[in-house]
This record gives sequence, C-alpha cells and structure tokens, in this order.
Amino acid sequence: MTLDRVMIAPSILSADFTRLAEAVAVAERAGADWVHVDVMDGHFVPNLTIGPPVLRALKRITKVPLDVHLMVDNPDETVEWYLDAGADLVTVHVESCADPRAVFARIHEHGAKAGISLNPPTPVSALEGLVGAVDVVLVMSVNPGFGGQSFIPDAVGKVADVDAMARRARHEVVIEVDGGIDETTAPLVVASGARMLVAGNAVFGRPDPTAALHAIRTAADLAAGHGA
Ligand code: DX5
Ligand code: ZN
Repeated sequence: MTLDRVMIAPSILSADFTRLAEAVAVAERAGADWVHVDVMDGHFVPNLTIGPPVLRALKRITKVPLDVHLMVDNPDETVEWYLDAGADLVTVHVESCADPRAVFARIHEHGAKAGISLNPPTPVSALEGLVGAVDVVLVMSVNPGFGGQSFIPDAVGKVADVDAMARRARHEVVIEVDGGIDETTAPLVVASGARMLVAGNAVFGRPDPTAALHAIRTAADLAAGHGA
C-alpha cells in the first residue's frame, strides 16, 4: 500500500446504544473516515448486535461512509440486506462465506466496496486467490464477538503477509485491522502495512472520544511516514 494517510473507523459497538446518533455525530465531527458497524448473529460469534434496521437508521443521520463488518454464518444469503440498508463497504468472513467471489460481485453490483476478513486462528493462506477480488482485507486482531479485548500481536505479521500477497497479485487493497487498536498498537500495524484502523473501546470508552480519535490518528500517521 502506498497511501500515507491512515483511515480511522470508530466502532460504535463500544458506544452507548441509547445514544447512537450522538456517537456517530461525535465520530463525524472528529473526522472519522468511516463508521464501523459490527453485525453479529449469535452463531458465528457469541454475541448478537446490530442488524439492517439500525444500519438503515444510521445511514439517514450521517454522511460518513458505513463500514459494515458481517460476523454472521450465512453472508451469502443475507448480504443484500446490508447493501439495501446503505452499507458502503461490506466485509464478510472467509470462515463463513461459502462463495466469496459471488458475494464480492454482488457487493460491487450495488456500487459498494467489498472486504474479506480472517479471524486470529485463520492463516493468511486462506485468502489465496481472493485478495485480487476485494477492496479491503480486514485482519482481526482479537477473536470477534466483543469490544474491549486485548490486541493479539500476531496480527502484525499477518498484515505484512497480506501486503506481500497483494503485491504478488499486483492488486491494491486497503488492509484494515480490528480489535484492541489504540494509540500504542496502531503504529505497530501501520508500520507493517495497515491503512485502515477500527477502534471501539479506545474511542468511545474514553472520557473524550474526540481527543482519543485524534491521538490514534496522530500515532498512526506518524508510523505511516506522514507526521500529523
Ligand atoms: C470485535 C469487533 C470489533 C470491536 C473492536 O468483534 O469486530 O469491531 O468493536 O472493539 P475494540 O476496538 O474495543 O477492540
Ligand atoms: Zn468489527
């Protein structure tokens, strides 16, 4: 990846669910590049969160593009729900997607961007042949299901491996990292090639989410060689 600037995608999973509009407005004012929406189905992961109606409501109140992370068992059957609800980027998991190429094609037909994600135990080799068909590769740096978990350092090497795989495929992808990202861990993954960072607890779990987002951005941009 050649992008110097790192995109920040605050995850509203760590926001106050009774005040989602406020959380999105805070993210927007703080200059968030995306709003990360974690969809969990209680099967693929042991938690149940947001679905298409809430996504549709969020779409009405913000201009910031919506980064929809589908942690579900049957993305092949349900991806259209999220596209119709206004997702700008839809990421499915390689562990649960039966026909990733067909799903990416449907996402692209809707004019959205397509992403593929892999869990911490899944090797980067699982993405072989798929990297050339997506816009984003999302490397999980926690086992998905909950916000506020600790960063798993193996993600740093996986980001570098995805970057090398994309270069071999001569295809430009944005590498996104999700889980335990804060101002300390952000530079580690940016230095190995990540250019999009999800942060939940390190933004909405802090007393001043705006300052917290800026701190992550500053640390990330410095690591990307583009001092803020
Ligand atoms: C984890 C979710 C993440 C989560 C990250 O299952 O996919 O997007 O919100 O939260 P933090 O940044 O608190 O680890
Ligand atoms: Zn996520």
